[in-house]
Amino acid sequence: MTSQFPAARPRRLRRTPALRRMVTGVRLHPSELILPLFVKEGLTEPRPVGAMPGVVQHTRDSLRKAAHEAAEAGVGCVMLFGIPEEKDGYGSAADDPEGITQVALRDLAAEVGDALVVGADTCLDEVTDHGHCGVLTPSGEVDNDLTLERYASMAVAQAEAGSQLISPSGMMDGQVGYIRRALDRAGHPHVAILAYSAKFASGFYGPFREAVEMPANFSNRNAYQQDPAGYRGESLREVALDIEEGADIVMVKPALAYLDILHQVKAMSDVPVAAYQVSGEYAMIEAAAANGWIDRERAIMESLVAIRRAGADLILTYWATEVARSL
Ligand code: PBG
Repeated sequence: MTSQFPAARPRRLRRTPALRRMVTGVRLHPSELILPLFVKEGLTEPRPVGAMPGVVQHTRDSLRKAAHEAAEAGVGCVMLFGIPEEKDGYGSAADDPEGITQVALRDLAAEVGDALVVGADTCLDEVTDHGHCGVLTPSGEVDNDLTLERYASMAVAQAEAGSQLISPSGMMDGQVGYIRRALDRAGHPHVAILAYSAKFASGFYGPFREAVEMPANFSNRNAYQQDPAGYRGESLREVALDIEEGADIVMVKPALAYLDILHQVKAMSDVPVAAYQVSGEYAMIEAAAANGWIDRERAIMESLVAIRRAGADLILTYWATEVARSL
């Protein structure tokens, strides 16, 4: 009698490229990728972000070019972060029709608005001199309800400048519902909301601070973003509230360190789920690759496949154009 050992041979389906391709379970598509872009008011030359090799603060011109390249590669959406020359405590640039985000949104809506979705971050930290995501009380706390007023005004200004996707990322209570009502009242019932629903107070946002020129004395966001060690169910509660308030898409952020959350959110959400591969996730791979410690392209694709596999319908990544081209 010949030995039947081993009885099961999963390797059969791994033996050739053709077999592996046939049974691929996780596929990425360019249209599911969202490219975050930085634009700085008054710049004459694109300015490299040191902590994010390959990422720049764009001029209005180079921004248009980058958005065109993304569109040509089939990327689904560009997400704008505008950095004004002058910041103040109130974030006045946020809802100024001549503020850099609105100016750049008009540029992009005109140039690539038919080819992909044009959206912008809807938050105050890029435009305040203290770097917090909201306006402060005299004692220095972020004032939730006063901040909602600012977000509403900002969202309407962005919609009027041509944004198709309002993306509140400040983790204020009630922000999605407040913005939804403001958009509807201002005549923008068709503009969608991508809600940063389960957003954690993360060390992985480090390089982003340089990209948007946050003040050096910037303090933490622990009083409004979620604790990475927070109670079980907190993220699901945040997501459920945002969906109830009218979110069209919900998001988990960061991505790689929160794949468990992403998986749980996908299981309970009846709207598309996005995940943000943030600046620190980008920087880690670029830095290790620059040192020859990991294979850059392999690590990028593996990280994106993991995020997709955990449940993301959409992925924000600074590699969106490069990856879209390679697919
Ligand atoms: C807030 C915002 C942040 C990021 C995107 N939107 C910073 C923060 O919440 O502290 C981080 C993105 C990244 O690190 O790539 N407007």
